[in-house]
Amino acid sequence: MIQISPGTVLYVFTAKDGREVILRTPKWEDLEDALEFINSLIKEEAKILAITEKTREQEIDWLAENLKKLEKGQHIFIVAEVDGKMVAGCEINPSFGRMRHLGSLGISVKDGYRGIGIGVDLMKEAEKHAIHMRLKSVKLEVFENNEPAIALYEKMGYKITGRVPGAILYKGEYIDSLIMTKKLLSS
Ligand SMILES: CC(C)(COP(=O)(O)OP(=O)(O)OC[C@H]1O[C@@H](n2cnc3c(N)ncnc32)[C@H](O)[C@@H]1OP(=O)(O)O)[C@@H](O)C(=O)NCCC(=O)NCCS
Repeated sequence: MIQISPGTVLYVFTAKDGREVILRTPKWEDLEDALEFINSLIKEEAKILAITEKTREQEIDWLAENLKKLEKGQHIFIVAEVDGKMVAGCEINPSFGRMRHLGSLGISVKDGYRGIGIGVDLMKEAEKHAIHMRLKSVKLEVFENNEPAIALYEKMGYKITGRVPGAILYKGEYIDSLIMTKKLLSS
């Protein structure tokens, strides 16, 4: 089990546009940024599952639950901070029982911070911790029409290994969900 305290800095790099990016675990002080971030994704109708804007109370519960899991070493949760603001996040949640070696990944980067390499470095860092956590494979689901995300995942070595027809209702249309997977260890 890998336990990491909230707010631990993991990696610092310069993005393609010259801004400094700090990859770290989340902390309580991220609450307002996290709320603004999720609601900005919902407002822009990003290709994610959430459709209803979050209240501050809901976000408090969500962050509390995630910080608890982080401190217990039950999942991987890494955020990116730019100019003092949390602008991206990546989570890997391990499954349980006979699937406990499999993690499910989710990632989002705030509009205005995309296309400068944050997604790639966030995923690399999250996968490093997944290996420490002894996960063997990572799985994710993506809308079939989310080209930037599919390109990112392919660049990171994920392959399309499944499709759920009509799983997603997006802007009045039923579209497929793609399942993509990557093996982390060669065993
Ligand atoms: C998908 C997402 C996470 C990508 O993150 P990002 O930080 O912009 O990605 P990066 O800058 O690290 O780009 C990595 C690669 O992804 C691909 N990519 C990124 N943006 C792209 C775009 N607009 N069009 C096509 N490919 C794109 C490219 O292959 C890129 O590599 P390159 O720069 O060498 O060409 C981000 O666009 C996002 O959060 N979108 C909204 C929410 C979302 O869709 N989340 C995923 C749900 S499954």
